[in-house]
Amino acid sequence: MTAFIQLDRLSKHYRDNVVLENLSCKVAEGEFVTLVGASGCGKSTFLRLLLGTESVSSGQLLMAGKPIEQEPSPDRGIVFQRYSVFPHLNVRENVVLGIEFVESKWLGRLFGKGRKEALEKADELLSAVGLEQARYKYPHELSGGMQQRLALAQALIKKPKVLLLDEPFGALDPGIRKEMHDLVMGLWRQYGLTIFMVTHDLKEGFHLGTRLWVFDKVRHDPHAPNRFGSTITYDLSLQSKDKALTIAAIDEINAQLQAVE
Ligand SMILES: Nc1ncnc2c1ncn2[C@@H]1O[C@H](COP(=O)(O)OP(=O)(O)O)[C@@H](O)[C@H]1O
Ligand SMILES: [Mg+2]
Repeated sequence: MTAFIQLDRLSKHYRDNVVLENLSCKVAEGEFVTLVGASGCGKSTFLRLLLGTESVSSGQLLMAGKPIEQEPSPDRGIVFQRYSVFPHLNVRENVVLGIEFVESKWLGRLFGKGRKEALEKADELLSAVGLEQARYKYPHELSGGMQQRLALAQALIKKPKVLLLDEPFGALDPGIRKEMHDLVMGLWRQYGLTIFMVTHDLKEGFHLGTRLWVFDKVRHDPHAPNRFGSTITYDLSLQSKDKALTIAAIDEINAQLQAVE
């Protein structure tokens, strides 16, 4: 496999709190990796390493053979569980803002041709996420599902290669969540994305991913809970969707997740 993202004995700690310990893995371009694990085991930290807002403490995290830059780049977009939009800007303006920040760092706003192009790009993304009818609405007029659609449009406006999703649908009703699953699967295919998605819901992880990672500690020190970090304890390919294997694995992983909670 040609590695697009490569983890090489990656570790991350905050002072004496070891969060991630000795992760080694290769991910090909176009994979959809879902991540599960107990609360506090380092899933969001791992996404922030990929985003470039945090740096590894030791080992390496490579993208296309190069260490991930220590700043957010248009290569990578992120969606959080709850999205903070600018309340005084409408949907379309909120999406355009993503371009304005990147392409017009000093001015803060685009004018003329640049602005026209930005609006066209925004409209393209808004139709891709099903918000074309809501272009001129303000954030407070949007449902939770629509807000997450907006967050996806904004994360994708710079045409990233990697999309990072941190429990993006955790706050939504089950019916809406199903719609969002279809949307994400569609965007993944349409834009040829590599996705890393954290979820609380193991079934969601199995349903959406081509690959599922479980984060957990393999070593525990009862007197010093922060002494050891999590690693990838399961790395399951979901490509074949072998039902019997999948069901057995769900039971096993569920037991493991409950044991640590
Ligand atoms: N910026 C930070 N500074 C210090 N500790 C942090 C920081 N971010 C996360 N942590 C610690 O890292 C651990 C993992 O947190 P997190 O990645 O948010 O877990 P998860 O997303 O799996 O619930 C926690 O112990 C948390 O307190
Ligand atoms: Mg988290």
